[in-house]
Amino acid sequence: MLWLWLKAFHIFFVIAWFAGLFYLPRLFVYHVDVHGGAEHERFCTMERRLYVMTTIGMLGTWAFGIATLLSGPDIYMKSGWLHAKLLLVLILSGYHGWLKTRVRAFAQHRNTKSAKFYRLMNEVPTLLLLAIVLLVVLKPF
Ligand code: HEM
Repeated sequence: MLWLWLKAFHIFFVIAWFAGLFYLPRLFVYHVDVHGGAEHERFCTMERRLYVMTTIGMLGTWAFGIATLLSGPDIYMKSGWLHAKLLLVLILSGYHGWLKTRVRAFAQHRNTKSAKFYRLMNEVPTLLLLAIVLLVVLKPF
């Protein structure tokens, strides 16, 4: 029973994390063409606050994911799908760290990337989400 509660909170935080992972690069797409003034400041505030919420989502996902793992069946530790999932989650956490470097770059007027670049990068969490959901649901190996 505890295991199911932990898993429910794990999924809750996954959704919170992904809301930010999807929306932050979108904000960057629109921020690219704004170079100063009140609008720039507004974008910076939105990005900073959204980054904090997204980080809470990531920490909750990790905390409840590990708790779900530790309270679940022993077989999980030996499952290939779980190892593959954890690898993808590490890549996703790296992507999260990269977003932080972009929030800073915009705040310091150092962004040199185009809107097209951020549109492309926006697909990274989409692909990782699809791969992770397929791994946890189908458990193919
Ligand atoms: C941060 C490290 C993570 C750990 C240690 C972890 C661990 C786990 C464990 C042990 C389960 C239970 C598996 C089962 O019910 O068969 C689970 C379920 C789940 N995880 Fe994670 N997870 C992590 C991150 C993520 C991420 C990033 C996502 C989404 C992209 C995700 C999506 C899910 C989903 C959808 C389930 C429910 C599967 C089901 O009930 O069939 N997890 N996780």
